Amino acid sequence: MDRSLREYHRPVLLREVLEVLDLRPHLVVVDATFGFGGHGFEIAKKVDPGIVIGFEKDPETYRIVSESLPPITNVRLLNMGYERLDEGLLKVGILSVDRVLFDLGMSSFSIEGTGRGFSFRKNEPLDLRFNPNEGEPAYEFLNRASVREIEEVLRKYGEERKSGLIAREIVNSRPIKTTGDLAVIVDKFYPPKWRNKAKARVWQALRIYVNDELENLRRGLALALKHLKVGGILAVISFHSLEDRAVKTLKNFPFVEPITKKPIVPTEEEISENPRSRSAKLRAYMKVAEVDVSTLLLDRRFANPFPVRWKETRRRIRREVRKLRKRRR
Ligand SMILES: C[S@@+](CC[C@H](N)C(=O)[O-])C[C@H]1O[C@@H](n2cnc3c(N)ncnc32)[C@H](O)[C@@H]1O
Repeated sequence: MDRSLREYHRPVLLREVLEVLDLRPHLVVVDATFGFGGHGFEIAKKVDPGIVIGFEKDPETYRIVSESLPPITNVRLLNMGYERLDEGLLKVGILSVDRVLFDLGMSSFSIEGTGRGFSFRKNEPLDLRFNPNEGEPAYEFLNRASVREIEEVLRKYGEERKSGLIAREIVNSRPIKTTGDLAVIVDKFYPPKWRNKAKARVWQALRIYVNDELENLRRGLALALKHLKVGGILAVISFHSLEDRAVKTLKNFPFVEPITKKPIVPTEEEISENPRSRSAKLRAYMKVAEVDVSTLLLDRRFANPFPVRWKETRRRIRREVRKLRKRRR
């Protein structure tokens, strides 16, 4: 890795990732979240003359990294989300790969340097999109959605207990334009010592929503499993419980075998050197059989962090049927 790129982001669990991926020359590796190449460039050294295909959604990060690439390199970088893995691989003319790495979440550069409102500690436009040319910024959503819609996003993706109160206050305080506007609202509902955690939950929820992160992850994982060779390895670093729960569902599917029985977490030493690593969890799986992606994407258990509660669903259906019968009588 170019030393100056390290100033933008410090890779998490680097030694552990390199170990779990069991790298050797000639392998073809997808780094689905290339960022500043903290993992990708180290992988590229180990697989040379094999190659690394890096996906990076943020155009700014993509520009900085591609400008620093040497003229001859075994890294192919694509400014594309991993949910378009199919298209990206087709573009570089590769159909099957040996390893895939997902390092979810944000780089330090996204948080500090893009000016898109990823940090509630800075006053910036509340955008929160990884790619500012795609989708709707968070302020637009907050200024158009109903209390119910906002409440649902905060509850589902942030597991925020005061989602109803915060959603109502957002609607009453419109227009919301900046991180500062939203921070003032969240702060109203918590004493000082809980405020940062509450804002972290609200920011997480809105970021997941505007980037459609869980659906993209589901698609990205399915496509990664499609293109992995049998015997190939998939490794995922997640940073919050919804991501980890989505990844963990893989253990229910017979086409993969877990390599990590329990998630690998950073050492005390890494956490003290890089506090942002504290919530990281690394899980790895080996593909042991072919996968049919269309069937997989129809399976609601696959990479779904919200477990389908069959008992509740059955009870609800029975209730509805009873109501219908009563009405008919
Ligand atoms: C935690 S960083 C990766 C850091 C990288 N492993 C390193 O060490 O430099 C996650 C990166 O994924 C990017 N990203 C977010 N969503 C993405 C998506 N759907 N597809 C591809 N990249 C995405 C972010 O812009 C960010 O640069």
